[in-house]
Amino acid sequence: FNISNQVVSATCPSNIALIKYWGKYANQIPANPSISYTLNHCNTQTSMEIFADEPFSVQTFLAGNEEVKFAEKIEKYFKNIEQYLPWILKGKYIIKTENTFPHSSGIASSASGFGAIASCLMELDKVFTNTEIDVKKTSFLARLGSGSACRSLYNGLVVWGKTDEVEGSSDLYAVKYPDEEIHPIFKNFNDWVLLIHEGEKSVSSTVGHGLMNTNPYAERRFQEARDNFVPLKEILKTGNLEKFITLVEHEALTLHAMMMMSEPAFILMKTGTLEVINKLWNFRKETGHPLFFTLDAGANVHLLFPENENTTVIKDFISAELLPHTQKGGVVKDVMRF
Ligand code: PMV
Repeated sequence: FNISNQVVSATCPSNIALIKYWGKYANQIPANPSISYTLNHCNTQTSMEIFADEPFSVQTFLAGNEEVKFAEKIEKYFKNIEQYLPWILKGKYIIKTENTFPHSSGIASSASGFGAIASCLMELDKVFTNTEIDVKKTSFLARLGSGSACRSLYNGLVVWGKTDEVEGSSDLYAVKYPDEEIHPIFKNFNDWVLLIHEGEKSVSSTVGHGLMNTNPYAERRFQEARDNFVPLKEILKTGNLEKFITLVEHEALTLHAMMMMSEPAFILMKTGTLEVINKLWNFRKETGHPLFFTLDAGANVHLLFPENENTTVIKDFISAELLPHTQKGGVVKDVMRF
């Protein structure tokens, strides 16, 4: 190939899983299929400059500050994917990254971050090998950086992991869930993230996945996630919000239950997480408004509700009753529209 100095850039959103990926095998193969919503406003913007005449090295900047640890991670990642991008170790890289959402807010910056890096790499590949970009390969490369990142390369609902319920699904890359099989109610949905706790997580998701290897409930959990695709498919088609809410909240609580059943056990929810969940359940019981939650591997609560004319009551309730449980009144408002 003809490696030359280049600058490329890419933007990639984060995503929030509805059926969760928790537990994996070697080479980032997921133990069960997962499905997520790709966010709209929570993005990572990355520029990648390659100096072709210099020896291989990686320098990274996050919001203008040099990040040595992240550079080491990226170097390791580049070495790992050399078999798929044979030119990759032939220059010096300067990678600059900005997130449009608060740092360590618990919004998956690794998903948007590796999505953006994989997209930059595919831009370079296009220049160096004169081939068209294949989004499956971008997703494949993103997966090797961070599993959930492979789902961020498409908008709407996205599936990663082999399931008979979704044609073309694969453990190696994500695919888009067919838009025509999704009821309109799910195509205009709010995700407001309450920033309950903004500090570092006590247990990383890498360690968390690893603890599934010895979790006595792991196999049962993997089977449940696989099985959940059957009702979910029907729910997405018919627009049954009530069943959707039950399934999504069950998935979130199961993720955290798995953490509690790990050896050693760990808990990423905080007092505020539980207070918000209880208040939200009371609100739903009393008013019938479709406000519900999901959780990532952290304390923050993703508040989900369909966007239509009747959201004022929900939004007022969130401001008055739920915001006080955040550390600094922090909320990130996103909306999935596709
Ligand atoms: O992509 P990872 O290794 O950071 O794992 C993320 C796992 C969860 O966010 C908890 C669930 C998911 O499917 O995104």
